[in-house]
Amino acid sequence: MEKKWWQSSVVYQIYPRSFKDSNNDGIGDINGMISKLDYLDDLGIDVIWLSPVYSSPMCDNGYDISNYRDIADEYGTMDDIDRLIQEASKRNIKIIMDLVVNHTSDEHFWFKESRKSKDNPYRDYYIWRDPTDDGLVPNDIDSIFSGPAWTFDELTGQYYFHLFDRRQPDLNWENKEVRDKIYDMMNFWLDKGVGGFRMDVIDLIAKEVDRKITGNGPRLHTLLKEMNIATFGDRDVLTVGETWGATPEIAKMYSDPKRNELSMIFQFEHITIDWDEVYGKFKPKPLDMLEFKKVISKWQTELTDEGWNSLFWSNHDLPRIVSKRGDEGLYRVESAKMLATLLHFLKGTPYIFQGEEIGMTNVKFDSLEDYDDIETHNFYKKNIKDGFSHEDMMKAIWENGRDNARTPIQWDSTANAGFSSTKPWLKVNPNYKTINVELALEDDNSIFYHYKRLIALRKEMDLIVYGDFQLLLEEDPSIFAYIRSDAENKLLVVCNVTGNEIPFILPDFISPINSRLIITNYNDQPLKDIQNLRPYESFAYLI
Ligand code: GLC
Ligand code: CA
Repeated sequence: MEKKWWQSSVVYQIYPRSFKDSNNDGIGDINGMISKLDYLDDLGIDVIWLSPVYSSPMCDNGYDISNYRDIADEYGTMDDIDRLIQEASKRNIKIIMDLVVNHTSDEHFWFKESRKSKDNPYRDYYIWRDPTDDGLVPNDIDSIFSGPAWTFDELTGQYYFHLFDRRQPDLNWENKEVRDKIYDMMNFWLDKGVGGFRMDVIDLIAKEVDRKITGNGPRLHTLLKEMNIATFGDRDVLTVGETWGATPEIAKMYSDPKRNELSMIFQFEHITIDWDEVYGKFKPKPLDMLEFKKVISKWQTELTDEGWNSLFWSNHDLPRIVSKRGDEGLYRVESAKMLATLLHFLKGTPYIFQGEEIGMTNVKFDSLEDYDDIETHNFYKKNIKDGFSHEDMMKAIWENGRDNARTPIQWDSTANAGFSSTKPWLKVNPNYKTINVELALEDDNSIFYHYKRLIALRKEMDLIVYGDFQLLLEEDPSIFAYIRSDAENKLLVVCNVTGNEIPFILPDFISPINSRLIITNYNDQPLKDIQNLRPYESFAYLI
């Protein structure tokens, strides 16, 4: 496989609303991002994935776009974004844009026209159907944000289709004009010099609603090939598709370089592993660690030469990883470092979600009103109707709700965590006085410097980028250990994934003569004759 720049890169995701507010209106913005580029440069990342900054009524915080070629007023202007691209480029950082083209906002010009009449030239840009003979919804497809995927529009007496909120109508990808306009828009951004795209729920674009097919529609890969040729195919960019329904077989279809589709995808098997079959993340179950190890190992070994993995624990839709899979209390620092070690030595391109590098935690607002997220509110309503208690719903929201990831970045210990001088759009996590960037930068042993070291190691060692993966201790529910190897070297990674002491003896092939400890999360060096791993202890040896 020909080597690509994005294989040895580390990506950092910015959620614009929560990153940094430069003009003190309580909302993060592009100038705020520019002011923190040196911080990101210091961390060592190569790429910024920018969650949507386009014009939007912000029902879903920008994942509902009303103009793909304009910037939301609260985030700044087109000049600001051009400056961000330039300033980032001075630091060798590329910007990848979020491409949200499964749907638009209902305030997009296309939809405003589309809904006007059945013979409007834009009618067929969206998916409209008559009610059934009994006057009911066309079929029983549900929205991913709960409730029916169909909303009735009085004006023309038809339903339109939306896989997310009613204010996010789905585009009709069978319409060639729609596709051409999207490709033009993508070229508009590529011509500005962006480094690629993260493609929002891209596996849903080839839906066939009459056959009730939503994900992985039959024409999906034909469409992506068409997009590739029409837009980024001859440019050296990173493209990553968000595909909740992918298996390794499907992942190869997207990311096998011979097929000319995408660079890689986000798959979610390691995330949905503890979700309920019916109620999903709002009824989480305990994690089966052996299963979890199996899933990660499967993706590592199955995507070898015919595809490429993305590596991530968190994003703006997921809970904070230290709260979810580590310990946000006593062992916050150790467990956050352990999780980082575990992920960053895997084969693939790592993604860091803003705040992860300082170990930001989930938040527990007492009142539902303090939550902003549309998904949280929609599910609260639905599940309460379905018989969940208020207490159970709040618990589920505390564990898995999306606002956990969206509280403002904790820059320092001053009011509003240094994010803004006014009250932010979403409350800051009350723990900002002890968890913030300023403190992290002052402490040599902080989670920040652990991430920085992991990123630097990836740059130094091809083995981390390209080496083969092999899981060790498959049947051990407390230790996640693996080996990466290439022709010259081996890397042994050992992680205690529990808060307990776990008996462990280093394998014989590690000796002080042939091996070098390259990272650890306890200050002292683990000794050759260790008998136990301490809570969340993790380290890696180069052999
Ligand atoms: C993706 C985004 C999520 C958004 C949804 C609809 O899953 O990551 O934030 O709500 O798509 O665009
Ligand atoms: Ca602002």
